[in-house]
Amino acid sequence: MRIDILTIFPGMFRGPFEESIVKRAVEKGLVQIFVHDIRDYASDKHRTVDDYPYGGGPGMVMKAEPLFAAVESVQGQAAEQGPVILLAPQGRLFDQGVAVELARHDRLILICGHYEGMDARVHEHLATDEISIGDYVLSGGELAAMVVVDAVVRQLPGALGSPESSADDSFSQGLLEYPQYTRPADFRGMGVPEVLLSGNHGEIARWRRQQSLLRTAQRRPDLLARADLTEDERQWLLTNLPS
Ligand code: ADE
Repeated sequence: MRIDILTIFPGMFRGPFEESIVKRAVEKGLVQIFVHDIRDYASDKHRTVDDYPYGGGPGMVMKAEPLFAAVESVQGQAAEQGPVILLAPQGRLFDQGVAVELARHDRLILICGHYEGMDARVHEHLATDEISIGDYVLSGGELAAMVVVDAVVRQLPGALGSPESSADDSFSQGLLEYPQYTRPADFRGMGVPEVLLSGNHGEIARWRRQQSLLRTAQRRPDLLARADLTEDERQWLLTNLPS
């Protein structure tokens, strides 16, 4: 996969992509990530990327020309093409399903917005998709792009240490992940559930599934309503949910 990120703050990406899973995925050749400075595509000597809004009003608007020029140039740098995604609070909400969907593409182009917004022609004629990472307003699309890249890259085959890891992630089955413990078995008098020490893999799997169900019911009933539960599991929840 190839990911191109268009931003006016390329320096922001230096830390996050140079650590952990994204770094390893790049080293393994699973993904190439290129960060481009939108100012490089401005047509004037001041490298202007914003201007006053037509009709007046507060703040500045990102100009269309540098963004179109940047996307067109970057598209020409590789044969494979894919969606051109604008990170913006008015986009569709990002979730695990969207991450899995995006991970199927060979190529993603992410545009990070700034200021009061973008020239609407970018939304209408350049971007093919718009994504928001949540119902709050960030100072720009950069942090959102990092979130999207991280969640997408961990879906790429081979990106995680063990192949099962991402299947067990919260949300991957529509449920939150069960609690995890590691040594010691007794830490300051706080123990570990007996079943996990039992070596009985059938019982452990059953306990984990039940914990996922309980957690999801208590913390995210909205997810539970959409999750794929058996009739027995629904009954079990009814009798085991603390009131
Ligand atoms: N830019 C500003 N706020 C954002 C959000 N919530 N998601 C994506 N991009 C953004």
